Amino acid sequence: MEADELRRLIDTRRDLHRHPELAYQERRTAGIVAERLAAAGYAVETGVSETGVVGTLEGGGGDGPTVLLRADMDALAIDEDTTHDFASTVPGVMHACGHDGHVAVGLAVAERLAGSRNEWAGTVRCVFQPAEEGKGGARRMVEAGVHEGAALALGLHLWLGLPSGVVGITAGPFMAGALVFRIVIHGRGGHGAIPHEAIDPIVAGSQVVSALQTIVSRELSPAEPAVISVGTFRAGDAANVIPERAVLEGTARAFDETTLRHLRRRIEEVAVRVSGAMGASAEVTFPQAEVPTVNDPAITDMVRETAEAVVGPDRMVVGSAARTMASEDFGAFLKHLPGCYFFVGARNREMGAVHPHHSPHFDICEEALPVAVAVLERAARRFLRAGAPRGSA
Ligand code: NI
Repeated sequence: MEADELRRLIDTRRDLHRHPELAYQERRTAGIVAERLAAAGYAVETGVSETGVVGTLEGGGGDGPTVLLRADMDALAIDEDTTHDFASTVPGVMHACGHDGHVAVGLAVAERLAGSRNEWAGTVRCVFQPAEEGKGGARRMVEAGVHEGAALALGLHLWLGLPSGVVGITAGPFMAGALVFRIVIHGRGGHGAIPHEAIDPIVAGSQVVSALQTIVSRELSPAEPAVISVGTFRAGDAANVIPERAVLEGTARAFDETTLRHLRRRIEEVAVRVSGAMGASAEVTFPQAEVPTVNDPAITDMVRETAEAVVGPDRMVVGSAARTMASEDFGAFLKHLPGCYFFVGARNREMGAVHPHHSPHFDICEEALPVAVAVLERAARRFLRAGAPRGSA
């Protein structure tokens, strides 16, 4: 990558990092995206699903497929704890997942494709979506029809699970679908010394936590990855008082929708029936659900080949080693279009980019940015010539 293109890529990422915006509030970010896309010659639509931006450009080579490239724009409600001179200037808001890098990469790819438009056929549609972090941004963009008429969708995540510049990719299930569950257990409060006159929601809740562990271990095939984790258990505020209620929240993950439906049904049944057996009652809600991200085999094969040509075979992690139970809303596009989502590693021990996604210390190794640009642009160019491979669905 030329020095000035690289400078611009890093400057863009750092500028966005300084000015992070939460879901559906990505106005400054969307403004920058719209301006850069328009300057590069794209037809630009703004305000899609609130703050989304879609840029469309036809190649000079005539008819061909429409390739959708997606980047997510939102930051997180986290107080940044780094010493960067480009640290967040917004208290309590931080780009702690790398979406600042995704926007910078998306813009660089869009501009490269515009610069080479006479060399390819078809249409490139750059989708900058809001609200990836559990707020349904991808689903809303699909409801707005941004996928319609596209032959395939490509996207990537800068990933701290892999060393900087290493590409992680696999056909089939790549990232898990996720459910967030919330269980409210109603008991009867009382004095801790007189338990027989109370119904203890903490004891009932403890049994529920234990029983939930058996859904994955006893009801699913050991060959089928799934997980249920209870992340919060809130009840009571005095040592000698049995409280009225306990509230548990957690996440369930799996790679296919049938398993996710099973988890959903059984989490509810187990919570309600175990609580009932203890004399308490339970209400179960699922405030958030994400479908699995499942890659098309033929398209993924082509992206893998392209990535390997960019980074070299020893910088590839392929197959189940690349797969993660983390989730991502790109799956909402892949429910309607064949496509491929992949990781570009961004971990770098020497520069301290080792903290997990969503940590207040999170950082990416910026050397991953030009790698991501090269892989995504070359992959897009390949499909803009050839279209989606036969057999993709
Ligand atoms: Ni993310």
